[in-house]
Amino acid sequence: MMIVAVVNTKGGSGKTTVATHLAAHFARRGLATGLADLDRQQSSAGWLARRPYTLPAIHPVDLETGKPPKEIARLVVDAPAALKRKAVADVVEAADVLVIPVLPSIFDEDGTLRFLKHLETIKPVKKGKRDICFVANRVKLRTRAAERLDAFLAELTYPVMARLRDTQSYANLAVEGGSLFDAQTARLADYRAEWQPLLDYLDNCAP
Ligand SMILES: Nc1ncnc2c1ncn2[C@@H]1O[C@H](COP(=O)(O)OP(=O)(O)O)[C@@H](O)[C@H]1O
Ligand SMILES: [Mg+2]
Repeated sequence: MMIVAVVNTKGGSGKTTVATHLAAHFARRGLATGLADLDRQQSSAGWLARRPYTLPAIHPVDLETGKPPKEIARLVVDAPAALKRKAVADVVEAADVLVIPVLPSIFDEDGTLRFLKHLETIKPVKKGKRDICFVANRVKLRTRAAERLDAFLAELTYPVMARLRDTQSYANLAVEGGSLFDAQTARLADYRAEWQPLLDYLDNCAP
């Protein structure tokens, strides 16, 4: 099993959007996929509950009540912004890969720096034993904010594996428990393509 944790203690950066999309992608690939929602807001659990049974199945996993079932090949963990320091360490310990979404704003830069400062004190991260990457999220192409975010992330240690544009499609798809990978319409192909480097990266991380 590979565990992918989507983390950033900065709120609203796109953790649930990224987590639900990664789960939908793995499920579509035919991998037995679990989704663990650690957030009390239960946004991804709600998304999963709304997901039609006609779409590739994703299994809800409750990490509080025990270990994920053995047959799960990919477990995606959707972490809350309000993750306590000890809980961040627990997630990092359990995960193989950390995906950190970041928005183009100075508040998100500051919040992300604070998160990274803590992350880098955690042993497996310090020892370089975790694959870690960024997702630049809600990017508006050719804006100063997007350029600023690129420059900010370029200074940091981890690679940026996706740049996702700002589009209402994410909110609209979430209503139906869906994702860009479920709605294989040509209209959304450009948005879907933005995920490909991240999906390839995760394939390379897979045990
Ligand atoms: N790339 C995007 N384009 C447009 N809206 C987005 C995008 N990513 C996330 N959102 C929206 O931003 C809000 C916060 O995203 P969410 O995934 O819930 O973040 P988090 O889980 O980190 O709090 C949601 O309303 C979501 O639909
Ligand atoms: Mg969330």
